[in-house]
Amino acid sequence: MEFAAVQVNHRITLAARPVNRPVQPSDFRHEEAPVPVPSTGEVLLRTLYLSLDPYMRGRMSEAKSYAQPVQIGEVMIGEAVAEVVTSNDPSLQPGDTVLARTGWQEYAVMPAKGLIKVDGTKAPLSHYLGVLGMPGMTGYFALLDIGKPKPGQTVLVSAAAGAVGQVVGQIAKLKGCQVIGIAGGPEKCAYVTDELGFDAAIDYRGKDTAALVAELARLAPGGIDVFFDNVGGIIHDAAMSSLALNARIIICGAVAIYDKLESQDTGARWMRQILAKRARMEGFLVFDYDHRRAEFLADMTAWLRGGLIRYREDVAEGLAKTPEAFIGLLAGKNLGKQLIHVASPSVR
Ligand SMILES: NC(=O)c1ccc[n+]([C@@H]2O[C@H](COP(=O)([O-])OP(=O)(O)OC[C@H]3O[C@@H](n4cnc5c(N)ncnc54)[C@H](OP(=O)(O)O)[C@@H]3O)[C@@H](O)[C@H]2O)c1
Repeated sequence: MEFAAVQVNHRITLAARPVNRPVQPSDFRHEEAPVPVPSTGEVLLRTLYLSLDPYMRGRMSEAKSYAQPVQIGEVMIGEAVAEVVTSNDPSLQPGDTVLARTGWQEYAVMPAKGLIKVDGTKAPLSHYLGVLGMPGMTGYFALLDIGKPKPGQTVLVSAAAGAVGQVVGQIAKLKGCQVIGIAGGPEKCAYVTDELGFDAAIDYRGKDTAALVAELARLAPGGIDVFFDNVGGIIHDAAMSSLALNARIIICGAVAIYDKLESQDTGARWMRQILAKRARMEGFLVFDYDHRRAEFLADMTAWLRGGLIRYREDVAEGLAKTPEAFIGLLAGKNLGKQLIHVASPSVR
């Protein structure tokens, strides 16, 4: 097994912090560096697919969070499917493919311990970053463990056509629920109803809270039993005014306010709604479920094989496209899980 000799590692570092403003291309720097050399117990990895996720916006900020920020000058963080180029550890061989937090770069050296092997013959490698990876696991555990959907209940999910939202709505359908998706634009709305089988979709663009409340009242006159919140903002407000008795609210993400991380998170308060509806609101973090990955994979693999879950990816070509694709993700330009195809496997 041979690999071409490589000297240059193209990588993208954080150049500036966007404080209370949208991300812009100049927040990143494209650099060339020598390819690092692994020591004992380490492997040299080549990034094949890089995952782009909204949480990366949080790592660009110094606002207090559950994780440390990326420092100025550091390579932007990110999870990838990568190929082992050189291994100084018996657990991995050149040509193996693994899940690794290589970040926004072509090559990375990492300890072999902790890397998760993935098999490109069982599923497309890209799926391990989406429907079979972190976003899929998020939708699965947050919906089932916190949402506890019951047949006949109404589930509302925002960012419905995205990496997490697609999974949430389809699992809710498998559980016998009525599913309403909220998404930006007619193409995404048609995707979730016509291709994924959601019962209805609301295009939130250009609408205020009152208009969204009116649409929810029409589509779900009995109220929302499970609200899967991926975005926060006015969609959150509209859903909170539309709850059914004993509703469950899953706080998964708040992408609508990620450009205001340095400001106080103030706005409407929903205590009276929560009280009157005896609702439960709970935050979710996917890392808390790492120990249950096998449970998720068993179900999701079976659903995918049975054609019960469909999944769309939005793949941009080449590492250089990463900042543009990331800015697009935060603006809703992606339809499906946003990925970067950095390189193809050397060995099959
Ligand atoms: N808690 C956890 O463990 C965890 C794990 C994974 C993801 N998440 C969160 O889950 C959410 C979805 O993540 P994802 O990976 O599935 O991303 P995604 O939905 O594939 O992409 C983000 C989407 O957010 C929507 N969006 C952006 N700005 C918006 C705004 N102002 N108002 C409403 N929608 C807006 C856009 O869709 P539209 O065009 O439809 O607006 C965009 O496509 C994010 O908030 C993310 O941080 C949390």
